[in-house]
Amino acid sequence: MGQTGESASSLSINAERLISDFEELRQIGRLPTGGLGRASFSPADGEAREWFFGRCADAGLTVRTDGIGNIMVSSPAIDPAIAGLAPVWAGSHIDAVPNGGAFDGPLGVLAALECLRRIHEEGIQLERPVQCVIYADEEGNYSHLLGSSALARGFTREELESMTGRDGDQFVETFAAVGGSVEDALGVTLAPGAVHATVELHIEQGPLLEQRNEQIGVVSGIVALGGGVVTFLGRADHAGTTPMRLRKDASIAAGALLVALPAVAAAVSERAVVTSGIIAVEPGASNVIPGSAQVTVDFREPDAEALEALEAGIIRVSESIAAEYGLTVEFDFGVPIAPSPMDEGIRAIISAAAEGRGLAWSALPSGAGHDSQNMATIAPTGMIFVPSIGGRSHCPEENTAWADVENGANVLLDTVIHLARRSL
Ligand code: GLV
Ligand code: MN
Ligand code: MN
Repeated sequence: MGQTGESASSLSINAERLISDFEELRQIGRLPTGGLGRASFSPADGEAREWFFGRCADAGLTVRTDGIGNIMVSSPAIDPAIAGLAPVWAGSHIDAVPNGGAFDGPLGVLAALECLRRIHEEGIQLERPVQCVIYADEEGNYSHLLGSSALARGFTREELESMTGRDGDQFVETFAAVGGSVEDALGVTLAPGAVHATVELHIEQGPLLEQRNEQIGVVSGIVALGGGVVTFLGRADHAGTTPMRLRKDASIAAGALLVALPAVAAAVSERAVVTSGIIAVEPGASNVIPGSAQVTVDFREPDAEALEALEAGIIRVSESIAAEYGLTVEFDFGVPIAPSPMDEGIRAIISAAAEGRGLAWSALPSGAGHDSQNMATIAPTGMIFVPSIGGRSHCPEENTAWADVENGANVLLDTVIHLARRSL
């Protein structure tokens, strides 16, 4: 990669403190499997939030929680002349997928906290505020990217009231139990220009940086994402008395769809991916032939048109499987999330920061969804990736070398300082 011409900052993060924070936070919600059980608004999420508030208080930082549970941390020592200016945000999330890893989200939050702490304790005067942000429910216990969606576009009361968690609980009830209210959740949408720029440090969650032996990924953009439920409808009957040729077994069609999906993705492109992470049959008894089967599909592709082709391919193959087995099929797909290019100016700042610190970097797209894709709709936004060991993520084995954590946090520090010093 070519030289982008910015020298290294003299300020660095305190790696020992960052790692110690990380080791403490990863204990909260830790399961016997070694993975994390820290779904948003669960008791473990509440404990993690309390722990985080304590770390902010120890550092003399001020914390605010908005109406949907996003957390914003600021330095109270800010020059009154700049206190009212749109801030630079750095952050990520602390909730986890079921049995998830410790790095997906917490890395970006704790590194942002460390950056703010260093700026605060050194009394560095910037031209606009820097804030550390935790976005609520990134992993979609209730709704994928809930907190940043509320900031970027807002929800209607009906949308909030229809959200159901992975445990079958209603968002509004669980949210009320942790002190939230729908009224407040409706009012968090940011006005245009309210945030100057946002940056998120994150693990790559894939193998590319490790394979390329590079320390920093400058995210070019986040892929388009579609999803929903395919429901096959057959007929519930007795498992012992109904001859095979007379059955309308919805689970057989679901199985056929799972087998067919890799070819559907391959027909679209090499980067197209489809996942069925939840499969449910009803009525759900060992001695009843399933009368319905629901297959959730999560599908992603860097290009919006190719994503449409992927959705059309899933529908086509489902219809043909339903016809083959004499069933009907219904689709409940959400509005796809458009691909989200990262801001060119911030990409240049990140790559310059990597070079300034002597780190090898390259540009790469993100196959995972991130709050940054929402924030990019309302502010210039960039993302920094660090390598994931073995490319593993969303599993207990998710891991990143401490040296890479430190490098990523220093690049984040240089980037936020740059963004808070100059106009883009
Ligand atoms: C979040 O991790 C996602 O990509 O779904
Ligand atoms: Mn994740
Ligand atoms: Mn994440």
